[in-house]
Amino acid sequence: MVNKSCCFEWIIALGFLLLAAAVSSKNHGNQANDLIDIINTNRTSKRLPQLNNNPGLGCIALQYIKECRGNCSENNTVNCKPSENDFTEIFAPNCGVELPTFGTISGLVIGCQQKHLDPPEAFSRVLIHNKKTLSVIQNKTHTEVGVGIIRAKKHKGPYFWCAFFGSNKKNSTFVLDDLGKGIEQKEGCYSGSGISCSSGERSCNFVSVINCLWTFTFCFLLVGRTIM
Ligand SMILES: *[C@@H]1O[C@H](CO)[C@@H](O)[C@H](O)[C@H]1NC(C)=O
Ligand SMILES: *[C@@H]1O[C@H](CO)[C@@H](O)[C@H](O)[C@H]1NC(C)=O
Ligand SMILES: *[C@@H]1O[C@H](CO)[C@@H](O)[C@H](O)[C@H]1NC(C)=O
Ligand SMILES: *[C@@H]1O[C@H](CO)[C@@H](O)[C@H](O)[C@H]1NC(C)=O
Ligand SMILES: *[C@@H]1O[C@H](CO)[C@@H](O)[C@H](O)[C@H]1NC(C)=O
Repeated sequence: MVNKSCCFEWIIALGFLLLAAAVSSKNHGNQANDLIDIINTNRTSKRLPQLNNNPGLGCIALQYIKECRGNCSENNTVNCKPSENDFTEIFAPNCGVELPTFGTISGLVIGCQQKHLDPPEAFSRVLIHNKKTLSVIQNKTHTEVGVGIIRAKKHKGPYFWCAFFGSNKKNSTFVLDDLGKGIEQKEGCYSGSGISCSSGERSCNFVSVINCLWTFTFCFLLVGRTIM
């Protein structure tokens, strides 16, 4: 009798553990890809063609904001001008973008915020900063896009979002070496990589920590009851 009920309780506890695992894995998506979906939805509503999600371009965008991560101004604009040479001498090699495939960049939008924003908010509050940035996003010339997201420092500082647009033939430029894998990035997120990543936000980690604590408390109580 005692054995039966404790078995049942363990099954429930296991269920909660699995639930916690599912919740925490769900939180490790790629917000850069979410932003591209939002950009494309917005373009579609204006009858503009959808943009190709180019991982090499996304990685270049990530390198660009990495260099600008100290330059978030009070009005959430990024005051930063990396030199032209950095693109081919630093950004491309850091990503593993094959140099002969380096294409044309036809526009970029960059912004920062002190706190982390979910992709829809980042789109409307950071990327669509004013009429000028909206016209960049809705420009007819673009064919492809890449997005990078990073936090200034690992555990503090403002967040940066950056979208790069290209006007090249699809899938022929910003090609990543190693059969499209490129060089693994240790920090930040970029679109198209298919790798889940963290843009450094605290809220998601917080949710999984709470979930874990909750599960452990539950298990602990159950064990206590079983022993008594
Ligand atoms: C596209 O973005 C603009 C600027 O934020 C907004 O006014 C418009 O409603 C958006 N369209 C859609 C369909 O989300
Ligand atoms: C934002 O601040 C920078 C300097 O901190 C200034 O150059 C720029 O004009 C400001 N932009 C707006 C839209 O106020
Ligand atoms: C960032 O801002 C500092 C101070 O204004 C400036 O010296 C530096 O050149 C900026 N960085 C870039 C990459 O533009
Ligand atoms: C669209 O982008 C191209 C390339 O950067 C630029 O020459 C053109 O002026 C832009 N068009 C609009 C309407 O902003
Ligand atoms: C480009 O590559 C993507 C992903 O590999 C694929 O879905 C898309 O069809 C390709 N586009 C063209 C024009 O080849």
